[in-house]
Amino acid sequence: MAGIGDQVTEGSLGEGHPFRILFVCLGNICRSPTAEGVMRGLVQQAGLEGGIELDSAGTGAWHVGSPPDERATQTALARGIVLEGAARKVATRDFQDFDLILAMDSSNLHDLQEIAEGEQERAKVRLLREFDPTSADTDDLDVPDPYYGGPQGFEDVLNLVLAACVGLLDDVRDRLERARGRRGLSGAGVDRARSSERGGSAGAT
Ligand code: 4NP
Repeated sequence: MAGIGDQVTEGSLGEGHPFRILFVCLGNICRSPTAEGVMRGLVQQAGLEGGIELDSAGTGAWHVGSPPDERATQTALARGIVLEGAARKVATRDFQDFDLILAMDSSNLHDLQEIAEGEQERAKVRLLREFDPTSADTDDLDVPDPYYGGPQGFEDVLNLVLAACVGLLDDVRDRLERARGRRGLSGAGVDRARSSERGGSAGAT
């Protein structure tokens, strides 16, 4: 499993700003809004809303302005996860605005690496499932595209994304704690997260 600190720069953490994560797929109507919704739920349960900002985008422009796919929305809602927002295309500006840009599959990863300018921007681009602690022995780290398939594809997306986002949250939380230590601040957001975990589950339901 990858760690953000392995390759990604300190980003905005050192300045006390939120850590910004962008989830990217092809259309920005199925997988990346699902990842954004799942991660938002986990971040809220952990009480880390002030420390982590989330967004999603697509490498393609076909669905710009559209809400998340109804099948993805209903699959997520059945597990209490709300998908929101309107599709947008990835912009060159995203490579400056976000600390971590997470591709859903290797094709998205390739496209993002083509857009990135320079090593620093390219180092921000990773596969989401690199953060799934249960996928350490897996060669295929894709979240498969469910758009032209049946309902099981959307269930699979949700399961893969959830496992990865649990690992991602742990990783980012470690980063926030280390940044707090460096700045010598109280880090109330992280403390709240720890106490909320003691009182209940940190996983999306
Ligand atoms: P996504 O799924 O990349 O997970 O949003 C797709 C959505 C639309 C299309 C392909 C994939 N499409 O070809 O329109």
